[in-house]
Amino acid sequence: MIKEFIGIAIVFLFLTGLSAAAENACVGCHASVGATKGIINDWKESKHALNNVTCDKCHEAAQGDKDAISHNGFLITTTPSPKDCANCHSTQVSQFNAGKHSISWSKMTAAARYKAIPNEKMRESMCEGCHSIGKIYADDSAGKCDSCHTRHLFSKEEARQPEACETCHMGLDHEQIEYYKKSKHGMIQETNRTSARAPGCITCHMDEGTHDVSQGTTIGTVSQGAFISNKSSGNDYVKDSNGIAMRAITQEQFDTNRNKMLSICARCHSRNFAQNVLENADEIKVQADKKVGEGIIIIEGLNKDGLLDPMPENRPANPVTGNKLTITGQQTYTNTSGIEAEFFGMFKYALIHSWKGAYHMNPDYSHWYGWAQINLDLEKIKSQNRTLRRIAELENAQKTTEKGTKATPGFGTELAVLGIMVSLLLVMKRRS
Ligand code: HEC
Ligand code: HEC
Ligand code: HEC
Ligand code: HEC
Ligand code: HEC
Ligand code: HEC
Ligand code: HEC
Ligand code: HEC
Repeated sequence: MIKEFIGIAIVFLFLTGLSAAAENACVGCHASVGATKGIINDWKESKHALNNVTCDKCHEAAQGDKDAISHNGFLITTTPSPKDCANCHSTQVSQFNAGKHSISWSKMTAAARYKAIPNEKMRESMCEGCHSIGKIYADDSAGKCDSCHTRHLFSKEEARQPEACETCHMGLDHEQIEYYKKSKHGMIQETNRTSARAPGCITCHMDEGTHDVSQGTTIGTVSQGAFISNKSSGNDYVKDSNGIAMRAITQEQFDTNRNKMLSICARCHSRNFAQNVLENADEIKVQADKKVGEGIIIIEGLNKDGLLDPMPENRPANPVTGNKLTITGQQTYTNTSGIEAEFFGMFKYALIHSWKGAYHMNPDYSHWYGWAQINLDLEKIKSQNRTLRRIAELENAQKTTEKGTKATPGFGTELAVLGIMVSLLLVMKRRS
């Protein structure tokens, strides 16, 4: 018994001695040799430094860890994971895991557009630069926590600013930062820099500091959004036969999440006012989806009649769906046809702006970049459809005439030439 106690005590002393050595060694050496100076400075400013959370607390690795490297007498990892953070912040880690940020890596790798990029080096600086928020680490935990509170300051104040979200929530297919910044909410934040009077992104999406950003989203969720599975709103034919365009949610899920969001609006607005705003956005989504549905029907028709140029079977295969027609969710922007390329812009950019703009109270994105552009794109699709069909008609007509003349191949011309020669001879004879 006593022997065992001494044994444990020795192991304990040995271990604490070792980590005390690491605590001092990491910061000590890095500071003295001037290695990673910026990191040391950031860390010194952080709450972690204040609480003696030294480099080793996150970076130390165990023997056998897949990502362990030996470093000046220590086993370390260069990529601490959420599992390391969870030792001290298990609440944030499990909330994060409940929200869609945590699935962003696997959603990305399943996408045809990801697979279609020529190589790993390019993918790393493209899709992965944003979808790393759900990065999967060597220990299988998911989530890059420094996506919002950058290393090594790890500040919650920084993460609270809308700018913390902007590197990723920007661009043609999800311009939330611009919808927001140019809305009345964004204007008030920008002019007053106070999140008390007007909401910032986190007021609506990380209520009470939750790390589950999926709370309160309904049919206005990521990517192409969702449709209510047990209610016909007429927009569900845009749902993707290949799986990743629109999600299905039930009316019950819709009500729970909508009530959650409205409870936030109702801190500043009347509930009726806010409910009306969100219902308008729902309506814009349904109507815009329907418009895009018209484009889908046209392209499917051309495919059925063999009129896409080139036809899917005559192009390099889509990395996920193969040689069949693939529009919406798994459509790629390479190896496509002109009319499908037109559709891509309507579906991926204009459609998105129309309703994501509306959910973020931005009339301009909703109308000019959104609804107006969808309608213009649809006109172009209709016009290309007519052109393709007219060309096909002309080609068919030509084939039919060719068939008619082919019955006496070359004979007509020969006869004509003969006729002319005979009449020429007659004329010459008469003259002489
Ligand atoms: C004897 C000095 C020394 C000690 C002790 C030391 N480091 Fe380093 N470390 C360095 C230097 C110098 C570099 C910079 C190497 C470079 O620029 O490529 C470095 C680089 C690193 C890197 C980046 C490695 C890479 O491949 O990208 C990490 C992470 C790191 N140190 C963490 C730690 C941790 C954690 C500890 C304590 C357990 C520690 N260091 C202890 C000197 C030291
Ligand atoms: C609170 C946890 C934490 C602490 C404490 C911490 N790091 Fe890190 N460190 C991280 C995370 C997280 C990453 C990024 C992981 C990734 O890329 O997925 C990182 C990355 C790094 C990198 C590689 C990336 C780069 O920018 O070069 C170096 C070097 C590094 N840390 C050094 C240090 C040093 C030195 C200390 C102590 C002064 C330290 N870290 C303290 C969490 C921590
Ligand atoms: C050894 C325990 C420990 C580990 C591991 C750890 N932290 Fe911390 N962290 C703390 C302590 C202690 C505080 C200060 C808490 C306070 O001030 O109430 C803190 C505070 C924070 C804060 C709030 C800072 C602020 O501005 O108030 C953030 C953000 C944070 N940690 C992120 C992380 C992330 C991300 C990781 C993993 C990469 C991590 N921490 C790993 C102990 C840890
Ligand atoms: C490093 C990139 C990155 C940063 C930074 C980032 N996000 Fe995201 N966010 C994503 C990606 C990628 C998704 C899509 C996840 C999925 O479904 O695959 C996403 C999805 C979301 C969703 C949709 C949730 C749902 O259920 O529909 C919300 C809301 C969100 N983010 C809010 C925020 C807020 C607020 C911030 C800033 C505090 C932020 N994000 C910062 C990349 C990021
Ligand atoms: C989408 C952006 C985003 C990501 C990703 C993120 N955080 Fe945060 N985090 C925040 C914001 C915003 C706050 C401040 C919330 C508040 O107090 O209103 C915060 C606060 C914290 C705090 C301080 C909590 C407190 O009450 O003082 C800790 C600890 C923390 N985060 C840990 C983590 C860990 C661990 C991860 C990775 C699993 C992570 N965060 C990923 C945005 C993010
Ligand atoms: C006033 C509240 C509010 C603010 C502020 C806000 N959002 Fe939203 N956000 C919403 C609503 C409402 C939805 C749609 C929810 C639904 O599905 O019913 C939404 C949806 C989203 C989605 C899912 C796709 C979409 O756009 O519909 C993302 C991602 C998102 N917001 C990110 C952000 C980011 C990043 C910011 C800050 C730049 C932000 N939001 C600011 C209320 C807000
Ligand atoms: C600028 C950062 C950024 C880049 C680059 C980026 N994404 Fe995204 N992606 C996001 C954000 C943010 C969301 C969620 C917001 C939304 O949809 O409104 C998202 C959503 C998605 C979704 C939908 C996820 C779901 O849960 O349904 C898929 C799939 C996706 N991206 C794949 C990719 C692929 C593949 C690439 C590269 C070809 C890529 N993304 C490039 C930021 C980015
Ligand atoms: C923190 C307080 C706050 C929250 C939360 C908030 N708002 Fe606002 N909102 C304001 C303020 C202040 C204005 C500016 C009023 C004005 O234009 O005079 C505003 C303006 C608006 C406007 C445009 C101006 C108008 O009167 O038409 C709309 C639309 C709107 N909010 C909808 C919402 C919705 C929907 C939610 C919830 C998803 C929400 N707000 C959440 C404070 C808030």
